[in-house]
Amino acid sequence: MSKLTLITCALPYANGPLHLGHMVEHIQADIFVRFLRSMGHKVVFLCADDTHGTPIELKALEENQRPEVFVQRFFEEHQKDFAEFGISHDMFSSTHSPENRFWASEIYERLKKKGLISRRDIEQAFDEHAGRFLPDRFVKGTCPRCKAEDQYGDVCEKCGAIYRPKELIEARSALTQKPCIWKSSEHLFFELPKFELFLKQLLSTPGFVSEGIAMQLKPFFEKGLAEWDISRDGPYFGFPIPGEENKFFYVWLDAPIGYISTTDIWAKQKSPTQSAQQLWSPEGDTRIIHFIGKDIVYFHCLFWPAILHAAQLKLPERVHVHGFLTVNGEKMSKTRGTFIEARKYLNHLDPSYLRFYLASLLGPGHEDLDFSLKEFRQRTNAELVNNLGNLAQRTLSLLSSPALQGQLAPQGQQTEGQAMVEAALAKLPLIKRAFENVDFRQATKLILEIGQEANLYLTQQAPWKRLKESPEAARAVLSETAEVIFILSGLLWPIVPRLATKLATQLDVEVPTFQHLLSASYPLLDRTQPLGRVSPLISRIEESAAEAMVCPPKASKPSEALLKPEPKTQESFEVDFDAFLKLQLVVGKVVEAKPVEGAGKLLQLLVDMGEEEPRCIVSGIAQSYLPEALVGKHVVVVKNLKPRKIRGLSSRGMLLTAQNASGKLSLLEVQDAPPGSPIT
Ligand code: MSP
Ligand code: ZN
Repeated sequence: MSKLTLITCALPYANGPLHLGHMVEHIQADIFVRFLRSMGHKVVFLCADDTHGTPIELKALEENQRPEVFVQRFFEEHQKDFAEFGISHDMFSSTHSPENRFWASEIYERLKKKGLISRRDIEQAFDEHAGRFLPDRFVKGTCPRCKAEDQYGDVCEKCGAIYRPKELIEARSALTQKPCIWKSSEHLFFELPKFELFLKQLLSTPGFVSEGIAMQLKPFFEKGLAEWDISRDGPYFGFPIPGEENKFFYVWLDAPIGYISTTDIWAKQKSPTQSAQQLWSPEGDTRIIHFIGKDIVYFHCLFWPAILHAAQLKLPERVHVHGFLTVNGEKMSKTRGTFIEARKYLNHLDPSYLRFYLASLLGPGHEDLDFSLKEFRQRTNAELVNNLGNLAQRTLSLLSSPALQGQLAPQGQQTEGQAMVEAALAKLPLIKRAFENVDFRQATKLILEIGQEANLYLTQQAPWKRLKESPEAARAVLSETAEVIFILSGLLWPIVPRLATKLATQLDVEVPTFQHLLSASYPLLDRTQPLGRVSPLISRIEESAAEAMVCPPKASKPSEALLKPEPKTQESFEVDFDAFLKLQLVVGKVVEAKPVEGAGKLLQLLVDMGEEEPRCIVSGIAQSYLPEALVGKHVVVVKNLKPRKIRGLSSRGMLLTAQNASGKLSLLEVQDAPPGSPIT
């Protein structure tokens, strides 16, 4: 049996939806996985949801749900999102599985047997009202250094001071807001310092991590490795530690063990002749590669290999670290409107765009990547749509025109064309190397060059001009670009599998594998075979679709939502309290009202909101109010809505109305309050 490669992505937390940051990692790993498969390797691509720990437990409590039930919702959502982005996991499981419980206990017992678990008391914040110990992030108080209020128990966001929660002034529980007390309890520790030499050697093994990452880990050795606290006192959502009372494994202990338990589940379900123990045994010839983000290097490059080594399990061959995705140059943040959920993206745009764009940004290193909406749209339209899409469109639609009837030319009629196809083939070793090095930026660059060359050739040969007088000459030219499209479908398959398959289907062939292309020679296509059905490959990204992804959900189509008099559907989504607080509601006095020409539902109002000038507001209430009945009314206005163009008028604000069953609107009115009074 040939060597098996196990590839994993970090396990997303099961307490929220996936976002584009997660997609960076899964798309990167998926491209690599697909490339290896295309090279004929056996690959198993594994991931799971990370379900344990206090933050998840508390979030479940907030929603009045048992954590087991709470995480289930995300388990389903995550898998659906990944599938729609074309992520080809062979198994996606959960850390809250019997297999993971087994492996966590098993590994713990192995460490214990080797005398690698020690115990000592530690003092921790305790919330007497909630009856639980508090992780640092759930303790808040005043910074001991700069005196900034409302800081977390580990670090001050104002001055950057790092401290222990006990050093906070007036420390309180973030759960109940009550002062916390300090209570001591016994914790279990993994004796990491014993692995100093082993880890130093591992980190200097070529290929295990990049040099940059190895450098980043140096300070941990300089400071001296510390024992790692692997236990938490109950109540805690996690696995009980065998032989202990009311102690549970810390979430970061059982999370990476999820890689093994997912292998276990995969083997049981899909490859019963293999087992997790065998696949993770140091003697076996499995290769393990982890894909992770730069924030969790410490767990994957220190604790995890030390634990694997101690438990006599296989070490990863490589931990591949990627950088963080920013949106329009800013950290992804819900309040700044730079947070893009994977589902929100899927509601507006084709996943192929994102896969291709991220591939073109992802080099082999761990520098951050920026998802600039403008650049995303412009580059996708230029590279994917104009370059690759147009090549396919021009070639295939002309070839299937009535003059040529979907038939290729016999080979070897066009020497320049043959040279172009051979130049494309000559690039394959370079492209292969780029994929092997996880340098997808370089791979996409080379692939685009092939597309450009073919487009240039088409433009020079202009087969569309020859179609009438010498159709055979046109056919000969187009058959050469069809060869290039065939090559491109194989090269693009790891990056944009759906588009690649579409290309091949139009040629009525299977997507060629990388392995096949590497040994192929001109001509690659069977010239006697007719083409398949031709359809446009991919359309341009419109600005509105790209913008819609980052707007708050309801605001994506504001004018329609506002103007429709039909009863609105109760789409349920939740708004952060912070977002709600941002809405400015004030009293406005209607000083003028008139119909909007040609729009029977609309009225144009002038509303005094206590500012220098009254504002123009266009409102969809013409079927409920006569203009003259409105003048003088004191109504409720959303003041800080972005100005919108409605029927050429700039509307600045929105009136609030209630709607009865028949669709009639009644304005919310306020008595005894002058224009501009805030509504709180
Ligand atoms: N549950 C842990 C991982 C346990 S692995 C045994 C975790 N989960 S996470 O949901 O916060 O992150 C999952 C992965 O997504 C991590 O590799 C993280 O680096 C990555 N990303 C999260 N936000 C990201 C960006 N904005 N950009 C790129 N990757 C990011 O950590
Ligand atoms: Zn401070």
